Amino acid sequence: MSAARGEAVCAAPGAAAVTDPTHLDGTILLAPTPPRWVEAALRELPQLLIDHANCEKKAASSALALMFTYADDRPLALALSRLAREELRHFEQVARAMGTLGVPFARQTPGRYAAGLRRALRSADPGRKLDLLLTGALIEARSAERFALLAPRLAPPLSRLYAELGSAEARHFTLYLDLARASAPAAWRVRLATLAACEAELATAPDRSLRFHSGPV
Ligand SMILES: [Fe+2]
Ligand SMILES: [Fe+2]
Repeated sequence: MSAARGEAVCAAPGAAAVTDPTHLDGTILLAPTPPRWVEAALRELPQLLIDHANCEKKAASSALALMFTYADDRPLALALSRLAREELRHFEQVARAMGTLGVPFARQTPGRYAAGLRRALRSADPGRKLDLLLTGALIEARSAERFALLAPRLAPPLSRLYAELGSAEARHFTLYLDLARASAPAAWRVRLATLAACEAELATAPDRSLRFHSGPV
């Protein structure tokens, strides 16, 4: 897929990122979410919830796709089977919250963040499996960070739900990172630095519309 006009191009990682890809209190994110994204998310809560519900479905679907592609990897299959079920439970929890708040479902078109990460993936193995696991870890880490930022600013019952989901996604981040380490013990650090730089740019550059993983609008 070619880069669309105006979309962020991933930067090459700096030397610090290559030697130490874990930053920000143990996470792998190379840049924090801009405060302007948090303010926009609170202002446009219905749109945030619609995209959040979509992300939970996508998280389950991505885990299932990995299980099909790497069917010979039994530890991966068992771990991601559990993860996919958990993501679908998250979807049901968000769907219930949307119902309580009167937010209707709507189809989402692919956002800049997901499209940008997809472009950074290598197209074939060896290499693609590691990239898919590392981007899984990065997306989960970004989700955990944003749930933690939003939870204290929301009213119950959404505040409690977002705090719980933040803990779950932090656990998923660790799971994907462990699978990536096991998949490529020698290569994961350098590749993570490259993909983390790409993710940080996509999550912080200005965006046209609010998404759970967009930059500030
Ligand atoms: Fe989730
Ligand atoms: Fe997750």
